[in-house]
Amino acid sequence: MTYECILTAVQGEGERKTGLITLNRPKQLNALNDQLMDELGQALLAFDADDSIGCIVLTGSERAFAAGADIPTMAPHNFMSAFKSGLISKNWETILQVRKPVIAAVAGFALGGGCELAMMCDFIIAADTAKFGQPEIKLGIIPGAGGTQRLPRAVGKSKAMDMLLTARMMDAAEAERGGLVSRVVAADKLLEEALAAADQINGFSAPSVALIKELVNLAYQGPLIDGVNVERRYFHALFGTDDQREGMDAFINKRKPAFKHR
Ligand code: CAA
Repeated sequence: MTYECILTAVQGEGERKTGLITLNRPKQLNALNDQLMDELGQALLAFDADDSIGCIVLTGSERAFAAGADIPTMAPHNFMSAFKSGLISKNWETILQVRKPVIAAVAGFALGGGCELAMMCDFIIAADTAKFGQPEIKLGIIPGAGGTQRLPRAVGKSKAMDMLLTARMMDAAEAERGGLVSRVVAADKLLEEALAAADQINGFSAPSVALIKELVNLAYQGPLIDGVNVERRYFHALFGTDDQREGMDAFINKRKPAFKHR
């Protein structure tokens, strides 16, 4: 499959590998247009369907993860054309269908839709150069890909209101303090760290990985008691797998487990 706005590669030495997707519209700071979002969706679904892939890493360039939705292509819309064409709805949320972990590796700008795309990933590893923001208010609009909903869940109401209403950017240190990113690393180590995290995950039992992702998303999105009840059922269900027997036997016998992902 050839793409024009993204690059794809497979990384890693283990039995399960990592699908690497790089946003690649450098002249526009990786602004997210329809072609890029269509291609991103196709690449994500292809890696998700590939049994040799355990995790996906999504990254941009040194200068920008993504500077937001593509402004010139959005500018001519009116209400009816935005509504009828499914602006954002039609191709931005494919990432939410992916069952494997998607790690965002963010350097430089992650603004507007770029910040929203990073927040749709499962966790964010940031370079010390990363800058996050939801500056849509400066364009006379508001975020359209979940920014007003996911940002307060990630950083709390006060920081989210501040960022959304003043359009100020948050640097990597503030993003880590606020809980938006899981770790901050030196810019020249960003990809290495993200791929190492992916590799670590690739070594674990695939059903455990998929269920943890599903359950954390349930915690993030839904009521507590429903999440705890679903977690309990899946916890019980994993006692029917070979990997549970293998993992616990390996611990008891002080050896490394050999997971079979079943
Ligand atoms: N769409 C299209 N092109 C963009 C872009 C965007 N979102 N952001 C940057 N670019 C382009 C610029 O137009 C410029 O192109 P030219 O060289 O052809 O002029 C190029 O990328 C480099 O940008 P700058 O010269 O502006 O670089 P800078 O370092 O001075 O500033 C920046 C960088 C702060 C990111 C600035 O470009 C900027 O503010 N960009 C817009 C950010 C923004 O408003 N994002 C939200 C978009 S709306 C949205 O995302 C809606 C949603 O919720 C889905």
